[in-house]
Amino acid sequence: MFIDSHAHIQLSQFDRDRDAVLKHAHEAALSTILIIGFDVETSLGAIELADKHKNLYATVGMHPHDAKKLTPDVLKTFRELLHHPKVIALGEIGLDYYRNLSPPAVQKEAFVKQLDLAEEMEMPIIVHNRDAYVDILPILEARGGKIQGVLHCFTGDVELMNRSLEIGFHIGIGGIVTYPNAKDVQAVAKEVPLERLLIETDCPWLAPQSWRGKRNEPAYVRAVAEKIAELHETSIETIGEITTQNFNRLFITD
Ligand code: NI
Repeated sequence: MFIDSHAHIQLSQFDRDRDAVLKHAHEAALSTILIIGFDVETSLGAIELADKHKNLYATVGMHPHDAKKLTPDVLKTFRELLHHPKVIALGEIGLDYYRNLSPPAVQKEAFVKQLDLAEEMEMPIIVHNRDAYVDILPILEARGGKIQGVLHCFTGDVELMNRSLEIGFHIGIGGIVTYPNAKDVQAVAKEVPLERLLIETDCPWLAPQSWRGKRNEPAYVRAVAEKIAELHETSIETIGEITTQNFNRLFITD
């Protein structure tokens, strides 16, 4: 069994054939898909979809791109949505200094406010990072292990991975690991202790090498598992089994 720990199948890119995409996932032995929100609309969309299918779960949160939209009202909405039985994490939240669609100071403020909410609600978090480990890790380290979660689509080096592991975080590896020149991500995927690994697609983006440039979908998470299995000299089934256990331990506590 496999779990896609980061998918955006609520988006319009899947409106045409969402049922077929879910069928492919089932045929590829995916037991669970976590649908990630990144603003109010996509968080509501994630919940609506998760409500319709037993094996789908949802997250709510404000992405750093839209950090300036995190008003007190929106924060209140997220707090309410976090009580929904299908919502199992807060995210994706974080910092993105690559595109800087919101100013860094505004991004940091929104990140910290949502971390406060996660701590208050005792919810794990999904962290988005791009060119921002320099700020993200100290912010998380300052929480002293009170918040758990995953650094999704991890693209740092082994040293940054070790710092992330020290504060109890999981490492999310996606399709990039299958790209021939993604040496840093492959080094991380090889070194990461398997009990702290999650696999993901980030679909519709970042399709693995065989589908690179096309729309990604949850079934392709197997290509990620396959590459990691090769790096760890183990079987794809082992990677599927361990990452499923990790997911259940981190997100589904009942
Ligand atoms: Ni994402």
